[in-house]
Amino acid sequence: MRQASARLSYYDLKPARDSFLEEVAAGLARPQKEISPKYFYDQRGCELFEAICATPEYYPTRVETAIMQSHVREMARHLGAGCVVVEYGSGTSRKTRILIGELHPLAYIPIDIAGEQLRLAAAELAAAFPELIVIAVCADYSRRFALPGLAALEGSRRVIYFPGSTIGNFTAPEARRFLEHAAALARAGGGMLVGVDLKKEHALLDSAYNDARGVTAAFNLNLLARINRELGANFDLAGFRHRAFYNARLGRIEMHLVSVRPQRVALGGRLFSFRDGETIHTENSYKYSVAEFRKLAREAGFEPVACWTDPQRLFSVHYLSVAA
Ligand code: AVI
Repeated sequence: MRQASARLSYYDLKPARDSFLEEVAAGLARPQKEISPKYFYDQRGCELFEAICATPEYYPTRVETAIMQSHVREMARHLGAGCVVVEYGSGTSRKTRILIGELHPLAYIPIDIAGEQLRLAAAELAAAFPELIVIAVCADYSRRFALPGLAALEGSRRVIYFPGSTIGNFTAPEARRFLEHAAALARAGGGMLVGVDLKKEHALLDSAYNDARGVTAAFNLNLLARINRELGANFDLAGFRHRAFYNARLGRIEMHLVSVRPQRVALGGRLFSFRDGETIHTENSYKYSVAEFRKLAREAGFEPVACWTDPQRLFSVHYLSVAA
């Protein structure tokens, strides 16, 4: 579906409700139960994620924004004015405003699975930058899809923007495949600006995913509320608790929902049993050293060009290019 005004268009390629049910049921049938983190982001989930970003413990958003503000000139020089910026998982597009204000791209293509937030963010951005062509695409970018709107922008240099360390929510093979796909989309001469959370002291990571006010816990549990509401399941939210910890061997934060007693949950005509203490694995958030991420980027066909970090080396922003 396409809706358009002068310089702003909106495409809804949203996956069907059926695939939500199928994926959740398949994930709950595995020996280690799991649900993809992409399902966190219903309207309430988007609000809770925004609230996480404002907690004192969750440093990535604040630190990445500060890195962008400090180095946006140099970043814009690498990206080049007049390019097409494609952003995966654009959310509120807040960091993108910093970039667009300096860069003056021809077009901006935000892609996100959360339709309402995308619609709003795209409209606000189009109003703030009246010369900018904005093509908002609601899609699940973990699946393949043809990006609409590119044909009319054929001659332009393409740059992928992927902030927020969302790359960390992929496993290494998924991250590699995603970067390969991004390199193919950027084509020879294009590039990618990507935010990546760095490995660091474990206590800091643990507290970033266990904030004192319980916002991250509410975000995690909202997944079950969403499944109840949209798929007619009967999860008892009081029967599960949030657990997040840094797994040093695998270099990742893991989020789980822990069943606090033996119980059974009905979903899509099936019953899923939980033992006391059994978990649903809901998210990984991998952390990379600068060298580890550069290696991954090279393997996927990019050439690392520049990397900016904050003075405490909590977070990194990489510029990668595709050789012309
Ligand atoms: C979106 N993503 C990069 C966040 C992260 O840090 O992995 C999601 C999140 N989960 C809990 N807190 C934040």
